[in-house]
Amino acid sequence: MNTPLGQAIPRVDGRLKVTGRARYASDVSLPGMVHAALVTSTVARGRIALLDTAAAEQAPGVLAVLTHHNAPRLRPLDYPQPGQPPASAGNGFRPLQDDLVRYSGQVVALVVADSPQQAVHAAQLVVVSYDREAHQVAVESAGEPFAPPSGSAGEALDYRRGSVREALEAAEVTLSRRYATAPVHHNPIGPFAAVAAWEGDRLTIHDATQGVCAERKGLAAWLDLDPAQVRVVSAFVGGAFGAGLRVNVHSVLAAMAARRVGRPVKLVLSRAQMYTLTGHRPQSRHDLVLGAHRDGRLLAICHDVLHTTSRFDEHIDLNTELTRMLYACPHLAACTRLQRLDIDTPCHMRAPSHANAAFALESALDELAVALSMDPLELRLRNHADRDPDSGLPWSSKSLRQCYARGAERIGWQRRDPEPRSLREGRWLLGLGMASAAYPVHRSGASARARAEADGRVRVASAAADIGPGTYTVMSQIAADALGLDVSRVSFELGDSDLPKAPLQGGSMTVASVGPAVREACRRLRAELVGEGEPLTTEAIARTLARRGVDHLEVGARTPGGSADGFAGHAFGAHFVRVRVDQDSGEVRLDRWVGVFAAGRILNPATARSQMLGGLVMGLGQALLERTQFDPASGRIINADLGEYRLPVCADPGDLEVIFVEEDDPHVNVLGAKGIGEIALVGVAPALANAVYHATGVRVRELPIRPELLTA
Ligand code: MOS
Repeated sequence: MNTPLGQAIPRVDGRLKVTGRARYASDVSLPGMVHAALVTSTVARGRIALLDTAAAEQAPGVLAVLTHHNAPRLRPLDYPQPGQPPASAGNGFRPLQDDLVRYSGQVVALVVADSPQQAVHAAQLVVVSYDREAHQVAVESAGEPFAPPSGSAGEALDYRRGSVREALEAAEVTLSRRYATAPVHHNPIGPFAAVAAWEGDRLTIHDATQGVCAERKGLAAWLDLDPAQVRVVSAFVGGAFGAGLRVNVHSVLAAMAARRVGRPVKLVLSRAQMYTLTGHRPQSRHDLVLGAHRDGRLLAICHDVLHTTSRFDEHIDLNTELTRMLYACPHLAACTRLQRLDIDTPCHMRAPSHANAAFALESALDELAVALSMDPLELRLRNHADRDPDSGLPWSSKSLRQCYARGAERIGWQRRDPEPRSLREGRWLLGLGMASAAYPVHRSGASARARAEADGRVRVASAAADIGPGTYTVMSQIAADALGLDVSRVSFELGDSDLPKAPLQGGSMTVASVGPAVREACRRLRAELVGEGEPLTTEAIARTLARRGVDHLEVGARTPGGSADGFAGHAFGAHFVRVRVDQDSGEVRLDRWVGVFAAGRILNPATARSQMLGGLVMGLGQALLERTQFDPASGRIINADLGEYRLPVCADPGDLEVIFVEEDDPHVNVLGAKGIGEIALVGVAPALANAVYHATGVRVRELPIRPELLTA
């Protein structure tokens, strides 16, 4: 039998999704279920002076109004959330615990009513007045940047190799530039929702999350329960992109409300609430100094990053990690500092750190190429890192040169006239740009179980998540391959904390982490059922079960974390784009994108391609359209909706081509797969900015690249 691995198998959950039968948290309806709505702060800093809930309590259908006066007490999380240093544990915001207003849009009250409409109506009747304090939501006028308390991220905040100062003095060419990126929001199409139900002191919560086990742990900590008392179910998630990594406040609010009224409670966030309750990609500023030999070889890089965090948490995006490893460069200093603002805490967003860092680094490389009158691709080849310059280790595999070559060929890079404004079609200025991409290979410990049934089917399960990449499908393929079965005879279950433990779906590590556990469980099951090389027919399964006198057979496996011992594991890629810019309006269109990626073995070319297209589109949004705007006067987000916050739509991307350079990498994990969830986003923005420069001669050093920046 041919292995299903590497086949473009259609999504096994596709039919459920397109027929509306996939049950998302917001679809869950339980007997006796009632509905919650939130009241959020309208000032960005201060204290609640008055909170009058009388009118709301008397409104039709209202069962309870929770405020900081009467809400159940929550314990602090005694461990850090993703992206936060250990020292910040316990500092995180806990809703409805005090009268402090930390940012605009913070939850200040919650109403429970029979219907969603009644809850929303009553929420509008809650009267809140504030003692305001001066707030700060603009980096330019905010206080001193700071280094978060050291911990695991400690050394990485101030990284150094070689002697940068001397190297920069000795360099034949130096370039010093500042780049900036806007804050952006994840905007999953499915607003986050939770349905919480208590049975005695046991909580079951249906939620939109990237990790049911992590959420179980977090809710148990907040609510002072044993994790065994909490069950989190999240079989389908309508996108998350990192916003579902930390334990979000809507989840604990639903649990608090359900406990108070003694009935199941559903809480669905509004689109506006998604902007203030689920995090965002922080705003960042990059001061980059490059020193190079005249032949283009980098001698020194100095990369100082400043990015935003909230007043009450330290979220860290280590933007400098990419800079440390992308090019061979002996002298390097990289430093990360945070800026506190009166905003919700930022969080990880698809290709966290790397997406912002790539804009700065890959724009600067392009500027260096211009300064040296060198082809930007040639400059990158001259700085190709043959080993990991960060760890000094050899790469587990690296096919970046092949990515460059394939992409250059497909876009026609060789014919590119380096002169800006040299390509034109009527009033459109055309430009070609490129950038490199890289993303580390991560792996966590995971477990899975496989169960053979008398009907000849095998049911495989792990408490993993599928926020959209195709985990159901690829895990089914991995299981089918290990069992020697057709995918149609395998089913895969995920998204339930009662299943064998699995890590968060983050860091592009699900296949590398959960895949080996699934494979191992299935191999063990197969060995229990048939002899080696024997086909796993329905009859063979039935025979073994009958011989053992059981109606099913279940086997579990747990596989460790860690990856590529003795090697540096990274996926690499290259973006080549052609843009057109309207010379009068400054409108930028993406004409053509060729994305070439080497990420080990591609287990499903269809879902993998889809991941790359998603990364490109998200990068296109960051590059040209998306910007969360905080109004300095009020401290509010003034475009917290899909009308004013501009997301890419189907008409935005032009002709898109995805190419995979397949690698045989025995070091990363038993599947040879490197992870593909995030790499495509890394490098999109600088490739576009570099192409815009080639088209117009205007170098835009801030995202998004807006028409007014090109026509000024
Ligand atoms: Mo991703 S930002 O690791 O969910």
